[in-house]
Amino acid sequence: MTFLIGGDLAVDRLGYGAMQLTGPGVWGEPADPDEARRVLRRAIELGVTLIDTADSYGPYVADRLIREALHPYPSNLVIATKVGFTRGGPGMWTVVGRPEYLRQQTELNLRNLGVERIDLLQLHRIDSTVPLADQVGELVALQQEGKVRHIGLSEVSVAQLAQAREITPIATVQNSYNLVHRASEDVLEYAEANGIGFIPYFPLATGDLAGPGSPLSEAAEAHGATPSQLALAWLLRRSPVMLPIPGTSKVAHLEENMAAGRISLTDEEFAAVAA
Ligand SMILES: NC(=O)c1ccc[n+]([C@@H]2O[C@H](COP(=O)([O-])OP(=O)(O)OC[C@H]3O[C@@H](n4cnc5c(N)ncnc54)[C@H](OP(=O)(O)O)[C@@H]3O)[C@@H](O)[C@H]2O)c1
Repeated sequence: MTFLIGGDLAVDRLGYGAMQLTGPGVWGEPADPDEARRVLRRAIELGVTLIDTADSYGPYVADRLIREALHPYPSNLVIATKVGFTRGGPGMWTVVGRPEYLRQQTELNLRNLGVERIDLLQLHRIDSTVPLADQVGELVALQQEGKVRHIGLSEVSVAQLAQAREITPIATVQNSYNLVHRASEDVLEYAEANGIGFIPYFPLATGDLAGPGSPLSEAAEAHGATPSQLALAWLLRRSPVMLPIPGTSKVAHLEENMAAGRISLTDEEFAAVAA
């Protein structure tokens, strides 16, 4: 259940994604900030050592809640964050990969999270209007200044990942991936072959795989599990480089999801769920 990010940063493979801790449209404050902080504290109690966030969640709301709930941070906690989106309102995401913006947002992540170095800084999206070497190059400059430990990418193709690796080592890739959306299978295979962590975002298909109406309901019941647990157990079984970061704003859902780490699937069960 452990993976070494960048070869030296140990995390439990079942992490937590902080995007659900903001208001609707990943904008503004959550309806229940106390529950948001409880979710974060409970995640640590349950053994989460990888939390995924981004400056753009809120913006700045998720980072601030993480700091309020968890600072000073446990020594084994890895906080992964991202830069490369600017926000104009609820549900609005605009890619900006200009080096000066990536630098500004990295500085703001450092300040808002209250850390001196970011464990894992992911380029949220590649900006097609800016040379990749300039975008990744700025993250490398920040790394050389001691502000970033490892560099990751998000929502990329195999070709883009390979191109970035010609510039610098890439520790992780974060693409959309779950049982009902497996378009990034080739990226996952490339990541596995090269020891790169694969962080599947939307691991529960934004909730469609969880809860009573899930297409996994029957299979989950047969397994003595809940649908979200089966979806996460399947991901964990799919690859040793898989690092799911299910998101939730509720302690009860967090507890349910984290119990997925205790479920193991046989080869037959794994294939049946995939089918
Ligand atoms: N790199 C990127 O571009 C990118 C894009 C999107 C997301 N992400 C990251 O990926 C993480 C995960 O994605 P996500 O949170 O959007 O989607 P997700 O993990 O697939 O699903 C989250 C949704 O499922 C619900 N849910 C969670 N556990 C549940 C349970 N046990 N029973 C019933 N419903 C449950 C949540 O609602 P409740 O709050 O009610 O539990 C929420 O609506 C994010 O938090 C973020 O860190 C990255």
